[in-house]
Amino acid sequence: MDQKKNLYSSTINPLLIAPTRPLPREIAIIGAGTIGPDIGYYLKSALPNIKLFIIDVVEEPLKKAEKRISGYVEKALEKRKMKEEQGKAVLDNIIYSMDYNEIKDCDLVIEAATENIPLKQKIFSSIETIVGNNTIITSNTSSIPADRIFSAMKNPERTTITHFFAPAWRSLPVEVITWEGVNKEVVEYLFWFFARTGKAPIITDNAICFMLDRVFDNWCNEAAYLLDAFPTSWIDSVAEEFVFAGPFFVLNMAHGNPIIIETNTLQMEEGPHYRPAPILGSVETWLTKRPGKKIEISEDNKNAIRDRLLGILFSQSFDIIDRGIGTKEDLNFGCQVALGFKKGPFDIMRDIGEAEVNRIMKQFGGERPGFPQAKRSFSEYQDFSRFLLVDEIEDVKIITIRRPQAMNAISDEINNEILKILKENIDDPAVKGFVITGYGNAAFSAGADIGKFPATLGNKEAAAQYARDCADVQLFMDTMEKPIVAAVNGMALGGGLEIAIRCHSMVSTKNAFFQFPEITLGILPGIGGCIVPYRKWPKGTQIFNEMLCLARRMTVQEAYDIGMVASISGDYSGMIQEAVKEVHTIAGNIKRIPEGKIDIPEITVPDNPMAGKLKLSEEGISIIVKTVKAGASADSLSEALEIGYQGSAEIACTDGAKEGISAFLEKRRPEFKK
Ligand code: COA
Repeated sequence: MDQKKNLYSSTINPLLIAPTRPLPREIAIIGAGTIGPDIGYYLKSALPNIKLFIIDVVEEPLKKAEKRISGYVEKALEKRKMKEEQGKAVLDNIIYSMDYNEIKDCDLVIEAATENIPLKQKIFSSIETIVGNNTIITSNTSSIPADRIFSAMKNPERTTITHFFAPAWRSLPVEVITWEGVNKEVVEYLFWFFARTGKAPIITDNAICFMLDRVFDNWCNEAAYLLDAFPTSWIDSVAEEFVFAGPFFVLNMAHGNPIIIETNTLQMEEGPHYRPAPILGSVETWLTKRPGKKIEISEDNKNAIRDRLLGILFSQSFDIIDRGIGTKEDLNFGCQVALGFKKGPFDIMRDIGEAEVNRIMKQFGGERPGFPQAKRSFSEYQDFSRFLLVDEIEDVKIITIRRPQAMNAISDEINNEILKILKENIDDPAVKGFVITGYGNAAFSAGADIGKFPATLGNKEAAAQYARDCADVQLFMDTMEKPIVAAVNGMALGGGLEIAIRCHSMVSTKNAFFQFPEITLGILPGIGGCIVPYRKWPKGTQIFNEMLCLARRMTVQEAYDIGMVASISGDYSGMIQEAVKEVHTIAGNIKRIPEGKIDIPEITVPDNPMAGKLKLSEEGISIIVKTVKAGASADSLSEALEIGYQGSAEIACTDGAKEGISAFLEKRRPEFKK
C-alpha cells in the first residue's frame, strides 16, 4: 500500500500546488490561552496586513494574549529579526474580543480552546452560524479525531484539524488532518497555505492523537512508568542521547501531565496498554535535572531505561507506518523538527542495526504486552529519502530538498540522496528530466552543512578528498543525457549554489539571490564554485570575482542579464512550471561546460577587503584569486575542478578557516588576523 498516495492527493511539496483560493484577509483564533496567541503571532508575522481576531469568553486571557504578542514583537525588534515598520504592522489590526460576531467576515477560523469535545462542538456550531459558507474552520486539538468534533456540523466539508506544536510561532510542522468528511480541496489549500506562510505542514490521517503526539505522549507515558524503578533525573539523562531535553523536563515546561492523562486515556480505545501511568495524576511538577547536566548511572540501569524508551519509540513508529497514519518521511522529519529528537526514529534504528532493534522489540513485547510490533521487514522501514521529496509533473521528477530547519543546507546524506534519485531514474524512459528545488519560500539552499567542516580543517589531504567526494553529484550531472534544471526559490548560497550552477539550466523566483559567503567563513567554494561560473557565463566574470572574494550577492536580474537564469517567476508554483517547460525545451540540446583554457582579466581586490562590516581574510582571498586563475588556465575541466578541490584544501589549513567556521558555529562574528 502506498501511504503517500492516500494522504497526499496531489503533490508532497505543498508549494507545487496552485492554490484554489487567495490568501485569507481576515483570520480568527478562538481561545486566548497559550497556543492561540502563538498561532496568531505566527500568522501576523507572515501576513502583517491581515485582520486578526483573537476571541475568548473571558477578558483576562485576552489581556494576557495582547501582552504576549507585544512582547514577541519587542523581542524580534531587539534581535533585529523584524523591522520597526513590520513590527507596527504585526501589532496593528489585531482585535481582542469576547464577541463571536466580530469574526463574521473571516476566511479562516482556527479554534485553540480546551480539549473538551462538547465544548468544541458548541463553539463550532455557533461559529457555523456566524461565518460565511466558504470560511474554512479548523481545530488545533492534539488528540481528538475530526469526525468526533465536526460530524454534527451542517457543512463539515470545510472543517478539519490543523495541529500546531509548541511554541507555535516558531515550531515548523503543522499536522493537517485528512478525514472522510472534509473536502480534499480544503486539505490541499491548508497544506499550501501553511507552507506559503513559512511552516512545514504534513498531512496525516485522522487517528486518535494523529501522528506526532502518538510518539510524544507515549514517550512521556513510558517514562512515567519507568519511575517504578528509576528516578526522573536518570530517565531524563538517558533520554538525552536521543532528545535535546528529557521527558520530565519537557512535561514541566508544558505543564503536560494532565494532557498525557487525557490523550493516553483516549488511546486506550486501542487497548489497555495505552493506560496513562497513575503517577501522572498525583504529581504536578517533576524534580529533575537541567538538560545537559551529566549524571553517573550504571551501565545496567542505563540500558534498562534506554531499551524501554527505544521500545516505545519504535513501537509507535512501526504502528504509524503500518496503519498509514503518516509517511516515513514525515514521521522521521516531524520527530526531529516538532518533538526535539536529535535523529528521526528510523535513523536511530539504522544506527543501531536490525539485530539490536529486534532484541529491543522482543524485550519490550515481554515487558509491555499489547503494544504494536513491526509488521514489515527492517529494510522496508528504512527505504525512503530522509531529506528529499519527490513529485512528478509532466514526466519530470521534481526533487525538493526538505531541511527547512537548516535553510535546506546540504549534508552528505542529502548529496547521496540526490545522486541516488538521479541514478534510479536516469534510464527510465518515462522520466524526461529533473527539476531540483528547495523547500519553502526562503531558501533553495543555504550552502553545504557547515557543521561538517571542522572535521577536515587543518588536514590538506582529507579536505581535498572531502571536496572530491562531495562533487559526485555534480560530476554525474555533467554526464547526464537527461536535463536537470535548478528552480531557485530563494537564497542559493555556497554549496547550494554549486549544485544550482551545475544543473543544465536555471530558473528562479523574483525573490531569489545568489551568493558565495564562504570567504566570510574563511574558506572558498571548492566544488566547482571557483571554476564553473567563469566557463559557463563569461559575461559575469567581474561579478563572480566580487562574489568569491567579497561575498557580494548577485541579484536575480543580474543572473538573468548574464544568461545564468532562463526565467524569473512571481511565485513558487509559476517557477516550477517554467522549470518543467525548460526541461522539455533543452532536452536533446544540453549545453556542456566548456572544456579548454579560458581567458579572464586580472582580478583586483580592494585594500582592506570587507563584506559589510566584516573585515575579511586577505590570506584567504589570495588563495581564492590563485585558484580562480589556475582554474581558468587549466587545459581541461577535470583538471580545473581538481585545482578547485586543492584550493579548498589549502584554505582549510589556514587560521582564517578555523576562526571563520568556529565563529559561525558559536554564533559570533569572526575576527580574521591576516
Ligand atoms: N550549514 C548548516 N546549518 C545552517 C547553514 C549551513 N550552511 N545555514 C543555515 N544553517 C542553520 C543555522 O545554523 C540555523 O540553525 P539553528 O536554528 O539550529 O541555530 C538555521 O539554519 C537557521 O539559520 P539562521 O542563521 O538562524 O537564520 P537567519 O535567517 O538569521 O540567517 C543565513 C540565514 C543563511 C543568512 C545564515 O544562516 C547563514 O549565514 N548561513 C551560512 C551561509 C553560508 O555561509 N553558506 C556557505 C556554506 S558552503
